Amino acid sequence: MRKILFILCAVTGALLFSGCESPKGWKTVDGVIVFDTPERAPGQQSVLGLRTAPMETVRVGFIGLGMRGPGAVSRFTHLEGVEIKALCDLYPERVEGAQKILADRGLPAAESYSGEEGWKELCERDDIDLVYIATPWQKHVPMAVYAMEHGKHVAVEVPAATSLDECWQLVNTAERTQRHCMMLENCVYDFFELTTLNMAQQGLFGDILHVEGSYIHDLAEFWDYYQGNWRLDFNQKHRGDVYATHGLGPACQLLNIHRGDRMKTLVAMDTKSINGRKLAEAKMNTSEFANADLTMTMISTENGRTILLEHDVYTPRPYSRMYQVTGTDGFANKYPIEGYAFRPTQLSDEVPDHENLSAHSFVPEEVKAQLMERYKDPIVADIEEKAREVGGHGGMDFIMDYRLIYCLRNGLPLDQDVYDAAEWSCIGSLSAMSLEHNNAPVAVPDFTRGDWQKIDGYEHAMVGD
Ligand SMILES: NC(=O)c1ccc[n+]([C@@H]2O[C@H](COP(=O)([O-])OP(=O)(O)OC[C@H]3O[C@@H](n4cnc5c(N)ncnc54)[C@H](O)[C@@H]3O)[C@@H](O)[C@H]2O)c1
Repeated sequence: MRKILFILCAVTGALLFSGCESPKGWKTVDGVIVFDTPERAPGQQSVLGLRTAPMETVRVGFIGLGMRGPGAVSRFTHLEGVEIKALCDLYPERVEGAQKILADRGLPAAESYSGEEGWKELCERDDIDLVYIATPWQKHVPMAVYAMEHGKHVAVEVPAATSLDECWQLVNTAERTQRHCMMLENCVYDFFELTTLNMAQQGLFGDILHVEGSYIHDLAEFWDYYQGNWRLDFNQKHRGDVYATHGLGPACQLLNIHRGDRMKTLVAMDTKSINGRKLAEAKMNTSEFANADLTMTMISTENGRTILLEHDVYTPRPYSRMYQVTGTDGFANKYPIEGYAFRPTQLSDEVPDHENLSAHSFVPEEVKAQLMERYKDPIVADIEEKAREVGGHGGMDFIMDYRLIYCLRNGLPLDQDVYDAAEWSCIGSLSAMSLEHNNAPVAVPDFTRGDWQKIDGYEHAMVGD
């Protein structure tokens, strides 16, 4: 009997302290919910700073041609060093619509694929380097994984994954196949965000303490247009910040997440659902609705910074991604008013009247304009005009595509790696976990499995660096 007790104790102790998998996939450590981190399988290697062979021309296949996809096809017709080889959607008429974009630009037709499984044939082609995915969230990971397994690099819309398991699938597949998997987080390429990131990297804000980001966008006029009601359907079933990446992406780049710092713990709170429930009643014939009208998530980092995120797609608030940066010596804010505030000593003599500036208010418009010009990110210098002309959310979408192709063509690490995709996408599941457990703290997994300090600071790779 004693022997059995001893064995039982030993096994329980080993389970608790060895870090091996817990029966539920998570455990509580000092009041913090901690998910298991799967072991890196043999044959897998980190893709941190991944460089792949440079390519003269990037051959692309697009999957998903609804509201978002055709804009990407159109932008790619303005990029050098690209061939659009294949187009795919569930509906053949949407593929035809995208073929017209090519024809109107005098480009050869691409191969067409349609139906529920047409995308698999597209991924199986041997003349495609990059698969660009703009389908419903629920299909991102199966498509991205299949594409990487067939040797393709992947660019996938936001959020890249919808669960923790899906986040690990992306990481593990990228590590196994050594393919790029970039989430198409476009908001990190908006002009104000890029300039502010550059200012932050030059030390203008001092030590950054706190960043706020949000997705506040009343989707009332869009709900009916998502194919098969996929988005409302997802929100109806999922509590938490299901669309965190637009607010979080810029924050993580400012805070050098997995490039010296890492997100450590989050806590979420939400309101009751009133408008969401009304939508469910009107459009889905149910009064059940998991997603709150307003969800807030607070995240702390290993190096003592904080992030606040908000998600609200149901109330008539003006569009906002917030984007607010608080540093020891400066402040930036994008919504509803773009502005910067600094201690006068933070600005050099090149900016006029800097002695008159007060950190209690935004710098005057003309000073802001000068700062924005002076701290323009080098990556936009060459293509700003073209980006504004081609457009896509005012140009940021074009800069994103341009950077993706630039880095692939030059064999450089991409601006966003698979660890960013996983970190920014996991917030949906982690915030839901916190909400379901009385707002308990939840540990953010380290998707790099220990390598988060190997790169010193976020940077955009450039030829000649
Ligand atoms: N970054 C941004 O600013 C931004 C803006 C809008 C949408 N998005 C993202 O883009 C993605 C698509 O959103 P959307 O608004 O275009 O939705 P949508 O419903 O308009 O389009 C999705 C398309 O995917 C197609 N599709 C579905 N199943 C398919 C399959 N098995 N094979 C091929 N095609 C299939 C649908 O037919 C549809 O045309 C989402 O991930 C969304 O979050 C991002």
